[in-house]
Amino acid sequence: MIRIEDLHVRFDSDKGTVHAVKGVNLDVAAGEFYTLLGPSGCGKTTTLRCLAGLERPTGGRITSGNTVVHDSDRGVSVPTYKRDIGMVFQSYAIWPHLTVFENVAFPLREVRPKIAEEEISNRVSKALELVQLGGYESRPAPFLSGGQQQRLALARAIVREASVVLFDEPLSNLDAKLRAETRLELRNLVKRLGMTALYVTHDQTEALTMADRVAIMREGQIVQEASPTEIYNRPNSRFVASFIGQCNFADGKVRDKMNGSGVGQLETEWGALQFSGDSDADVGTSVIAAVRPENVRLVATGADGTAEGEVVETVFLGECIECRVRVGDADLVARVHPRDAVDVGQRTGVEIRPEDVALLSS
Ligand SMILES: Nc1ncnc2c1ncn2[C@@H]1O[C@H](COP(=O)(O)OP(=O)(O)O)[C@@H](O)[C@H]1O
Ligand SMILES: [Mg+2]
Repeated sequence: MIRIEDLHVRFDSDKGTVHAVKGVNLDVAAGEFYTLLGPSGCGKTTTLRCLAGLERPTGGRITSGNTVVHDSDRGVSVPTYKRDIGMVFQSYAIWPHLTVFENVAFPLREVRPKIAEEEISNRVSKALELVQLGGYESRPAPFLSGGQQQRLALARAIVREASVVLFDEPLSNLDAKLRAETRLELRNLVKRLGMTALYVTHDQTEALTMADRVAIMREGQIVQEASPTEIYNRPNSRFVASFIGQCNFADGKVRDKMNGSGVGQLETEWGALQFSGDSDADVGTSVIAAVRPENVRLVATGADGTAEGEVVETVFLGECIECRVRVGDADLVARVHPRDAVDVGQRTGVEIRPEDVALLSS
């Protein structure tokens, strides 16, 4: 549905050239909810603006549906209003001098040939019903709450019934509770309408909870693309592992692959560790072992195959306690249930299951 091929964007400024997007490739299937996730400044907004036709790429090709909307080589650039695309911005870009009705009607009034007033009215009502703003038609837009303004921006993006909708951090102006409530609501609405969504965020929870597929961006490039569970459980780099959630890292070396039994041995800063799965790292290779805090289990000391350490710090987080444990020469953070009594200075066994160890190249 959306295809971006070798997209490049360079900005010239008085401080020199910024290469904001460096060869991005992606494919979004019809009806898919696809998320671009990355730190501030990595080129997410620029990529989205190229799709919408608000930014002119310096190289590459963009296809939306069956239409090539941009091709640098052939000098093709379809203007924004002719692209079958709706967009929701971080700032909402709501017109404060217009009513709720007129804000949503605006994109329809731009369409040529003109749409009859009655049909505009019907489509605006339908869009407002969908985002639960029916009855607010005549209210001035600034008199809506933050959450209602967000839904108004959404109504305006869907009223054209475009098959593609682009979101640029649309929830970032909402307070934490409303943001959490809106995530699933928004995803469900997009799915119900059968739209294809490209959603940009720097918020890992949004990406994990909303997306069918996540692409992690860093410095103008996509560094990993996978389902939320795979990104979380099988990050392909230290950058991805630490950008999504928390992670423990230890330098290590592959000791033994046990003749393809599916389980291998590592020697790490935390001591001996088993890993499982499909790693193609050879015996003797230096690697980084990555383990999520919720996969580090504190057990009785002396159990078979477990390491031993000392609890050096505990932090109460409400739903869990985070324990820093010194194992060998390195620290390891474990997350335990708040009912589990853990004291600083206590000796503890540390258990990590082979399937919870991800190997990254060092
Ligand atoms: N119009 C512009 N002129 C110059 N530099 C820009 C412009 N827009 C964005 N940039 C730069 O391009 C890079 C990517 O920006 P952006 O796409 O907004 O990142 P993100 O949305 O991931 O935070 C940043 O370094 C930013 O400063
Ligand atoms: Mg941005």
